[in-house]
Amino acid sequence: MLSAAHFPHRYPVSRRVRNIAPSATKEMALVAAGIEGCVSLGQGVPSFATPTHIVEAVTRVLQEDPGSGKYSLQTGMAALRRRIAAYLLAEKNIRVDPEREICVTVGGMEALLTTILTVVDTGDEVILPSPTYASYIEQITLAGGSPRFVPLTDTWGLDLPAIRAAITPRTRALILCNPGNPTGTVFSDDETLALCRQAVADNFVIITDEAYDYMVYDGDMPLSPLSMDEFRDHVISIYSLSKKYALTGWRVGWVAAAGGWMEQIMKVHDATTICAPTPSQFAALAALDGDQSCVAAMRAELVKRKELCCARLDRLSSSFAYVPPKGAFYIMAKYLFSQASSQEIATRILQEARVITIPGGSFGTGGEHHLRLSFGGEPQVIDEAFDRLEAWLAKSAAA
Ligand SMILES: Cc1ncc(COP(=O)(O)O)c(C=O)c1O
Repeated sequence: MLSAAHFPHRYPVSRRVRNIAPSATKEMALVAAGIEGCVSLGQGVPSFATPTHIVEAVTRVLQEDPGSGKYSLQTGMAALRRRIAAYLLAEKNIRVDPEREICVTVGGMEALLTTILTVVDTGDEVILPSPTYASYIEQITLAGGSPRFVPLTDTWGLDLPAIRAAITPRTRALILCNPGNPTGTVFSDDETLALCRQAVADNFVIITDEAYDYMVYDGDMPLSPLSMDEFRDHVISIYSLSKKYALTGWRVGWVAAAGGWMEQIMKVHDATTICAPTPSQFAALAALDGDQSCVAAMRAELVKRKELCCARLDRLSSSFAYVPPKGAFYIMAKYLFSQASSQEIATRILQEARVITIPGGSFGTGGEHHLRLSFGGEPQVIDEAFDRLEAWLAKSAAA
């Protein structure tokens, strides 16, 4: 499909929008929709259905409460904000005022965009340890800023000296996705602390994206630096309920930050969405209030899928190298059988093997020559995808 950039006079699209691209994750899904019988290691959506108790709670409230289909307060329903504040305190030792320091958003995605639009001006720079979540790149560009990629180490750790060297007077923020999409890294508390100290010293903001905080394979949830008084003014934290409670389509998350930030973030949130969908806020309340065994069950299933995915990759060790993930449900697999770009390899695998993968190059510097594999899908889908990959590799190697 030709984009508006090809018809500059007929569709005089803003430069801001011309400068951004649809995410590779969604692009691959779109291309795959035109190819019969694909299986996916692509989009990061766990296969689970929304837990029944959440659906039932929302159905009940929609039937019984005429207010449930109306706008809520811009910041979100008071009961939900109070529940989120209690959750943050209990789980992460973060103290926030539910009246002034939480805004319920249309997923983590809106929380990220409103934050980035609030922090980043034209010409500003945002440091992205990369490979990184691709949508940050487009959101920063949309805000008129520039992503400043700092490659992770070979084992996907933070390269702190390189981050220090990348700081300039235009640095406004660094986005820390922890656990990381697409690498599955869990950054240590020491690494997070070092970044926060740097942010205070050079007066920039650490935006923590904690969408996968519940999905750590060994050990505890990583440190949320908003819990530390000394960093409060230098941290804005993004949360999502999408993956943890199988609520991807409900579109609900939140942003937590000091009141001074939140007053400004709220202006963007109000101008773009008014409020998060009220029925979805009831779903969030039911999720946080309800029995947490659904999370434990989904987590246990994802552990099995991770093991399956790693075992299948291990069988292909002459074709792929990878760092075993410590969190989230992704593996960045480096392909060893070609020097071609990740876009070309992912496209060939899609067209010739009918397996969806995401080109690693779309996750910024350091991602090229990798494919991102998600193991959120059912085990039989993972097995089928690897059967096809194995057959494709055998044929391609023979060709
Ligand atoms: C790292 C990361 N942040 C944010 C999001 C957006 O999540 P949500 O569905 O809450 O908008 C995703 C979704 O895949 C993600 O992987």
